[in-house]
Amino acid sequence: MPTKEEFVVTPYEVKGHIDYQRLKELFGTQDLTPALLDQIRVRAGGELHPLLARGIYFSHRDLGETLDRAARGQRFFLYSGRGPSGPLHTSHLLPFDLCRWLQQKFDAPMYIQITDDEKFWVRAGLTREETYRWGLDNLADLLALGFDPKRTRVFFDTRSIGAMYPLAVDVAKKVNFSTVKSVFGFSASQNIGAIFYTALQSVPCFWPSWYAGRAIPCLIPCGIDQDPHFRVTRDLAESLGYPKPALLHSVMLPGLLGERVMSTTGDSKDNAIFLDDRPKEVERKIKNALTGGRATVEEQRRLGAVPEICSVWALWRAKFARDDAEFDEVTRGCRSGELLCGDCKSRVLVRVQDFLSEHAKRKEAVRATAESLIIEGGERSDGSGPVVRGEIPLP
Ligand code: TRP
Repeated sequence: MPTKEEFVVTPYEVKGHIDYQRLKELFGTQDLTPALLDQIRVRAGGELHPLLARGIYFSHRDLGETLDRAARGQRFFLYSGRGPSGPLHTSHLLPFDLCRWLQQKFDAPMYIQITDDEKFWVRAGLTREETYRWGLDNLADLLALGFDPKRTRVFFDTRSIGAMYPLAVDVAKKVNFSTVKSVFGFSASQNIGAIFYTALQSVPCFWPSWYAGRAIPCLIPCGIDQDPHFRVTRDLAESLGYPKPALLHSVMLPGLLGERVMSTTGDSKDNAIFLDDRPKEVERKIKNALTGGRATVEEQRRLGAVPEICSVWALWRAKFARDDAEFDEVTRGCRSGELLCGDCKSRVLVRVQDFLSEHAKRKEAVRATAESLIIEGGERSDGSGPVVRGEIPLP
């Protein structure tokens, strides 16, 4: 186990107590400053998404340039993705909740990548049929968040590969083994699928520019654990004649059992709320969730609790507070000792259960059309770009 000072953040491993300030320095990313947030607020017509306002997104690369260009008329598209390995949990929604809002506010096309190859390559115990089926299921969950089908397309790796492969070939030629070895910590026994994989995750960054034959800026909201892939992408972008993708990074939310990250790899299913959890399961998980409460009621009334270390407060903060007023009320009540953990848990439980039941209905409604958004095709005979079925939304 790493000590408190040691932590590891890569796309394939997140462990230890993450010091985000230090991580920004290590990765060389920029602070998401109040000035940048103001710029987004103004462009969004005066509001800011809670994930931005509450500091869950905290770091970026080239966001200022991307917003400045957009203000001058060179608009961007959004890109984020999911490596399917099982059902989604609520933390997986962070990038997509933000993307849906940005799509609406900035009238931006959205590209979702479903990497049904990735977890098959990097994780034991999953068949390709499983990652494929989870991919389709996860895609329905993501589309149920309310993306505009006219402005949204999907790269589903095993199905979109014909339309992606020529670009993946160009990218792969620019990435050498020693780079991925040091960036991801691969050993010599790593399968070559995982070694090649960064090329595939890079493709959507450039694909719309390739398709349109002009430079189109890309903005990627994602967990900071994905930054290493895009460092590789950004380093080779200009040599291929494409703009470097810009990034907006979120923190990794704590799990319900207090592990630093709401990950389910290797830990108990009780550490996260899955979108397909039954109401009873959600109740049990929230009851058992680790809080920032005191040992006794008396002590809590006197000293107040500590929201920053509480997994239930993290739920309010990231998704379940109705508005800023409610979020502030919960936070103040927690800190002052007025709101006890049991009451706070009962309140959030209702919110989570309502969300899950509404979400399930929306998911069923989008399931039938989800596959029609998958990009499929190949390359033009003169090599100048892809040929695909159907229309491609561009900024
Ligand atoms: N690698 C990501 C995962 O493990 C999936 C992914 C593909 C992604 N493309 C992306 C994530 C772009 C963020 C942005 O889930």
